[in-house]
Amino acid sequence: SNQFNETCPIKLNLNHVLTSWTESTIVRDVKIVKVPLEERSYQIVIGPSLLKAVGRKCKQLKLGQSCAVITDDRVEPLYAKPAIDSLKASGFNVTLITIPAGEKSKNLRLVQNCYDQLAQARLERNSFVLALGGGVVGDLAGFVAATYLRGVDFVQVPTTLLSQVDSSVGGKVGVNLKAGKNLVGAFYQPRLVLCDLDTLQTLPPREFKAGLAEVIKYGIIDDARLFKKLESEMERILKQDPKALGSIIAKCCQIKAKVVGADEKESGLRATLNYGHTIGHAIEAITRYGTFLHGEAISIGQIAAGVLSHALCQFPEKDMERIRALFEKAKLPTSLRFTATQREKLMKAMQLDKKVSDGKVKFVLASRIGSVSPGHVVPNDMIHAVLEQIGLESSES
Ligand code: NAD
Ligand code: GLY
Repeated sequence: SNQFNETCPIKLNLNHVLTSWTESTIVRDVKIVKVPLEERSYQIVIGPSLLKAVGRKCKQLKLGQSCAVITDDRVEPLYAKPAIDSLKASGFNVTLITIPAGEKSKNLRLVQNCYDQLAQARLERNSFVLALGGGVVGDLAGFVAATYLRGVDFVQVPTTLLSQVDSSVGGKVGVNLKAGKNLVGAFYQPRLVLCDLDTLQTLPPREFKAGLAEVIKYGIIDDARLFKKLESEMERILKQDPKALGSIIAKCCQIKAKVVGADEKESGLRATLNYGHTIGHAIEAITRYGTFLHGEAISIGQIAAGVLSHALCQFPEKDMERIRALFEKAKLPTSLRFTATQREKLMKAMQLDKKVSDGKVKFVLASRIGSVSPGHVVPNDMIHAVLEQIGLESSES
């Protein structure tokens, strides 16, 4: 039986229910968000120049003497040295493991390769793994940490906007199979997440904007005030104004922290984080992950979910327009022209999504900005109609 209402939204405003579950402290420009998971609770530390403090932070956590820094070959030349210097200065022995940059690296062959290097460096049960990079490095290194010697401590140092607001928080780790993305993995929480805002300065602008798609998502699913702030500050954010960015990243982490704190293993609430992802994932799959970055695909997915929400959950037309306008302001795609064949492929791809249960594709839909609910079954003809509508709009503009 379906635990969620299939047609109409359960009114769910996390702000009111859960505020007291999350702590946020501000020390100068550094913000700390706590992920509340009892004995597995941890801090997300957000601020400028934090990379040079990573050793000290690990020492405070009393992590073991030896560690492996796992990074990729784009991040390594930029940030491995300051991170390693800081770890060494705090007395840690460091092994550096560098994987090729890109989604293709999230595979079991490279996991095996990391295990071999950890064993060669004689990392023991009390050693730890530190992920330095974007979501690809974080997901893979986290899976290595979760499984090597049945689990060693894990630290996330995310260096992309997407990984700072999303993938480094919440403990989903894993790799891809030929059959699909993230099909092998674990829930394995880090001991610490350290977001150095300075690292974002070298991020390619396209990657930065793709991360903004997840930022906007948090406004839609949980926080009308955040959404409004994004509307008024998008220009500053696109210029990477450090003050604007720091508080927004902290806000997103706070939302993710409270959702994960309430539903770590995704029995319900956590699914709201997938707003816009049902169609978004399918768009990535039918374009073989080669055309759109994840953030770009879920921008289109979030527009589609907005249209469905309007049709099924009385989501106001004017909110729909605000959402579209904000994605446009962030210079993210809001439409995609589908051919009839592509539409069919997209429908099939949605059926294959790992989130499908009982053969039914479920959507997260909004009742207003700041309030969504998961588990909506949407009739196929309605999905078709929405895809057509999005396509039509693209040919008009
Ligand atoms: P990514 O890790 O591939 O990084 C994007 C590119 O930017 C890479 O080429 C990388 O080398 C480069 N890069 C990283 N930091 C940089 C910096 N500071 N300066 C310059 N270049 C830099 O991609 P991503 O968008 O960070 O993450 C995407 C991955 O995250 C996907 O595999 C996705 O499945 C996963 N993900 C996981 C979760 C989760 O909850 N675990 C959530 C969302 C996404
Ligand atoms: N990125 C979705 C989640 O962490 O649940």
